Amino acid sequence: MKSLEELIEVKRDGGTHTADELQRLVSAFVSGEMPDYQMAAWLMAAFIRGLDSAETAALTEAMARSGRMVDLSSIPGVKVDKHSTGGVGDTTTLVLAPLVASCGVPVAKMSGRGLGFTGGTLDKLESIPGFTVTLEPDDFLSQVRDVGLAVIGQSPDVDPADKKMYALRDVTATVPSIPLIVGSIISKKVAGGADAIVLDVKVGSGAFMKTEADARALAAELARVGELLGRTVVCILTDMDQPLGRAVGNALEVREAIATLKGEGPADLTELCLVLGAKMLVLGGIAEEEREARDLLLDSIATGRALDTFRAWVQAQGGDERVADDVSLLPIGAHTRAVAAEAAGWIAGFDAEGVGRAAMATGAGRARKEDDIDPSAGLELEVKVGQRVEAGDTLATLYASDAALLDEAEVRLRNAVRIGTEAVEPPPLFLEA
Ligand code: URA
Ligand code: CA
Repeated sequence: MKSLEELIEVKRDGGTHTADELQRLVSAFVSGEMPDYQMAAWLMAAFIRGLDSAETAALTEAMARSGRMVDLSSIPGVKVDKHSTGGVGDTTTLVLAPLVASCGVPVAKMSGRGLGFTGGTLDKLESIPGFTVTLEPDDFLSQVRDVGLAVIGQSPDVDPADKKMYALRDVTATVPSIPLIVGSIISKKVAGGADAIVLDVKVGSGAFMKTEADARALAAELARVGELLGRTVVCILTDMDQPLGRAVGNALEVREAIATLKGEGPADLTELCLVLGAKMLVLGGIAEEEREARDLLLDSIATGRALDTFRAWVQAQGGDERVADDVSLLPIGAHTRAVAAEAAGWIAGFDAEGVGRAAMATGAGRARKEDDIDPSAGLELEVKVGQRVEAGDTLATLYASDAALLDEAEVRLRNAVRIGTEAVEPPPLFLEA
């Protein structure tokens, strides 16, 4: 058997690993036998040399099996999970989970927290008074059976390999590697019990994949590796050159999600939820075609079933379900500031990451894992790319608990909005759907 050092040599020299070798690397790292510095060296070798699809599938499988595998077999039906490769103001899970559950697709989801300029579903849910994201495994399963959905935090004993590897990738400049991203995403879904996965691959300044070519390559590899592991993976590609919807911040995004479940949400967020939701209904066997699935989703919104499911979900997880009918029960920053355009023109574009960083400056995000976030902070954009603005028009409203935070947030927000002197076409949200 090769030593760990010899395994690093294999990848350093551009060789191909066997499945057994990848299994050994993952288990040695998780057990502590392989120290961080050796895994860091291997990750960099893998980043530079790449992994072929068979290697990536073997890595993914080894990661998924590195801890507890969630068994969803007691829940009837096809378990479809959804994942987004991360973005700014991405409120989709808060809308999609109750929306597709209201149409009969069971949702048993593990989500993450926000870090840096991107938000996390758990933080958003916890901005609902009383909402808990910690459920015992049995309670998680019974809630999915009774209410149709449950969303909890990633448990530390599920896919520990990903947690340890991601932490190391984060500080060794090895995050934007297609095989490593595929391993990270698919292993979490496989360990979480998903039969089928719908993936929203983001492209643009606010995403890991900055170019369309990279995003397409990532989407193709996600589907290929999913198939090698016996899971159906469907990808769509969406623009992240501007934040999704208008709200960026935790309670603000819950408010936006509630509006969307009532059919009163922003057009782009609504459309994305309908497209992703239709794919989930087809994969879940609820509808034959996306067209028919879309009608089911629209009907659920129009009849109030989607919002009823949201209410039942919030109540089941200890939250105050009255927020569904009275959003003033959600925390909202006491200090607000309207950021006005200094000159007339057209909104030419956003630096989506900059918008995320402006929201962070209001207190809505965390720079380090240990930091606290302010659920009531964030911002609401009043403009979208292509829109005409006059001097004095509001570009965004900022919310903070501490007025002193508003100055930096305003500077960041201004720097993140480009106003041009010529008319611009609004960019398409979907590059591929
Ligand atoms: N999202 C993940 O879960 N993992 C990655 O490596 C990148 C994005
Ligand atoms: Ca949003």
